Amino acid sequence: MPSPSSQAIDALLADIPDPESGRPLPAMGQVVSVSADDAAIAVTVGLTTHSAILWNATRGRIEERLRAAFPAVPSVSVTVVPHDRPPVKLGQLGVEAKSVIAVGSGKGGVGKSTIATSIAIGLARAGSRTGLLDADVYGPSVPHLVGLSGRPHIDNGKILPQMLDVGRGQMPVMSMGFLVPPGEAVIWRGPMLHGAITQMLRDTLWGPLDYLVIDMPPGTGDVALTLSQALPLSGAVVVCTPQDVALLDATKAIAMFRKVNIPLLGMVENMSFFVCPDTGKRYDIFGTGGARRTAQELEIPFLGEVPIQIPIREHGDAGRTAANYDDPASRPYFEAICERLVGSLAATSAAKPPMPSLPVL
Ligand SMILES: Nc1ncnc2c1ncn2[C@@H]1O[C@H](COP(=O)(O)OP(=O)(O)OP(=O)(O)O)[C@@H](O)[C@H]1O
Ligand SMILES: [Mg+2]
Repeated sequence: MPSPSSQAIDALLADIPDPESGRPLPAMGQVVSVSADDAAIAVTVGLTTHSAILWNATRGRIEERLRAAFPAVPSVSVTVVPHDRPPVKLGQLGVEAKSVIAVGSGKGGVGKSTIATSIAIGLARAGSRTGLLDADVYGPSVPHLVGLSGRPHIDNGKILPQMLDVGRGQMPVMSMGFLVPPGEAVIWRGPMLHGAITQMLRDTLWGPLDYLVIDMPPGTGDVALTLSQALPLSGAVVVCTPQDVALLDATKAIAMFRKVNIPLLGMVENMSFFVCPDTGKRYDIFGTGGARRTAQELEIPFLGEVPIQIPIREHGDAGRTAANYDDPASRPYFEAICERLVGSLAATSAAKPPMPSLPVL
């Protein structure tokens, strides 16, 4: 039976990737301490707030590996402490964020804003510094979904975002809906659209972020182009329903993201099925499994599914999207999507220091 030496444990840890960068923990200076004898192994690793949602899974994985390698040692404990790795300024707009994630679709009404808002809330609740930008200037719905309204305050030429209580601190939120009176129609010409989105990115006091999640308008062409020029996006999440027509539009959206060089982080299937609360019977209202198949065919990760649930719609309409995480019937779906998304970022190395962005036109 091998006796646990520090070297043997170091070798084992060299196989464990940092869930932010995807690189081995020791190479990133994230092994804080190792102590081992025949009675006990104690390891402390430092992880960043960017991967907060994966801390527990990472700790469990290391423990499992240690137990399997040294089965005769009765006590194995792994402790996670915060490891500081500040974000860099992205592009010329000065947004300080590690990962910028655009949530889009080809088709309207498939639940992009619900999924984008829920992803942002899920990451923030896990302990990641997260901001939410509603880039749907045509029909901003994030204010409605999170129950925020009113014009933001301006301080020294900077816009103070509205702050959303996510049950674990406050998350900055910015939307054209805070600037344009509700119900007022605005016709956006190309340059104005470009200017409005650039301004919301540049002039909002986001503070240093692990994630900036961006809710895209349906169709996405213009806005995706503007975003891809304004700052280096880590990637896009495409939301669709299992219906053929939605999948066709999602495939077009994926082609469009590829055309403007935005990496695809994965696909989410929304409104996947409905379980009748009275009978427990499952109905595949829009068909089933289509997004998973399409993701496979297009070789992009499948991040998960969300069923149709009446409370999801009710929470949205009541401005309480965060309550999806208090409901045990919906929370696991949203958490699984957040976890796989963070995993996908590490796997595609999209969370690494980004490439310089193109100049803003
Ligand atoms: N899984 C779900 N179960 C029940 N209702 C849902 C679900 N997903 C979204 N909804 C509801 O469907 C409606 C449309 O959702 P949402 O606004 O998120 O879609 P969208 O794709 O952003 O739309 P648009 O294209 O107009 O921007 C909302 O009322 C929302 O609460
Ligand atoms: Mg929307």
